[in-house]
Amino acid sequence: MKKWLIGALICPQCRDSDIVLEPDIHTQTDDEIIEGRLVCSQCSQAYEIHEGIAVVVPEQTLPMIQDATGYNSFSMLSSYLWSHYSEFFNGPDATDAYQRWARTFDAQRSGWALDIGCAVGRLTFEMTRTHDRAVGVDTSISFVRAARELAERKQLAFDLIMEGQITEKRSCDLDPAFGFDQAEFIVADAMALPFPSRRFATVSSVNILEKVPDPLRHLAEANRVMHEKEARFLFSDPFSWDETVNSPALWLGGTNEGAFNGFGMDNICKLFQDPESVFSPGFTIQDKGQVLWKIRKTRNLWEHITSQFVVAERK
Ligand SMILES: C[S@@+](CC[C@H](N)C(=O)[O-])C[C@H]1O[C@@H](n2cnc3c(N)ncnc32)[C@H](O)[C@@H]1O
Repeated sequence: MKKWLIGALICPQCRDSDIVLEPDIHTQTDDEIIEGRLVCSQCSQAYEIHEGIAVVVPEQTLPMIQDATGYNSFSMLSSYLWSHYSEFFNGPDATDAYQRWARTFDAQRSGWALDIGCAVGRLTFEMTRTHDRAVGVDTSISFVRAARELAERKQLAFDLIMEGQITEKRSCDLDPAFGFDQAEFIVADAMALPFPSRRFATVSSVNILEKVPDPLRHLAEANRVMHEKEARFLFSDPFSWDETVNSPALWLGGTNEGAFNGFGMDNICKLFQDPESVFSPGFTIQDKGQVLWKIRKTRNLWEHITSQFVVAERK
């Protein structure tokens, strides 16, 4: 974990913004903690840093990050490295979705940016172009490891799945304009972020809302860590609600009854404009639209996804 994150992390269980986690360093380089712990002086909980990866999640999130299937699987890594970086190795059919989302960060901002559900880090790297620092968080250790390796090597080299266990090597340089030293990735939960309130100038939640057990709680956490003034939020999602992922009672759209009946994007926009909602103080919507996004599973299988986005600001 890069040392510049020391002092910027709090306990995800206590979530007391005034008590930052204390480092207990076992091995280190000039810039990074390689092995060690981050300790909460209030509840005494210790969060491990192993092979440079900080895991700062509440206890109830641990089963999710220890699961070797889903977003920790080999096939997901191939899919997401292709999706985030295929433009750089001239992959045929590459998606420009991340460039499109990144265009919403066109203005230079002082302050830090947070990419919630960063996967293998493309949007986090894009955020370094316009922010002092950018932090990516995800519950997949495999994704966070891959993103950290990309930051260190400034190059991509991986096995792209062709079919089943048959793979081909792909490699390329990443954009040298990325601020590799200004980006860091940690394992953290979108519903219990280990950051003090009001820490970030910009926050993104891209294609994660429908994946978390309690979507409204995720939005409340995103709001908590955003500046009270001069904050920007990039939100995007396909709203492909799935009752095997989260309870329909907690969906923010896709139902015919309840407080969030109707379409997800309409409800999210209402939340932004309602000063009594999880977004407080309220936001003004600056831009809205859709991004055509692709995930590649094998040489014969792509998912084509329409992700609806909204960029909201508060002055
Ligand atoms: C559909 S992927 C989208 C990834 C990335 N934002 C993108 O658009 O390419 C959802 C991501 O959210 C992560 N995720 C799922 N639940 C999470 C949680 N509770 N906290 C943080 N990340 C989570 C997954 O590991 C995965 O990387």
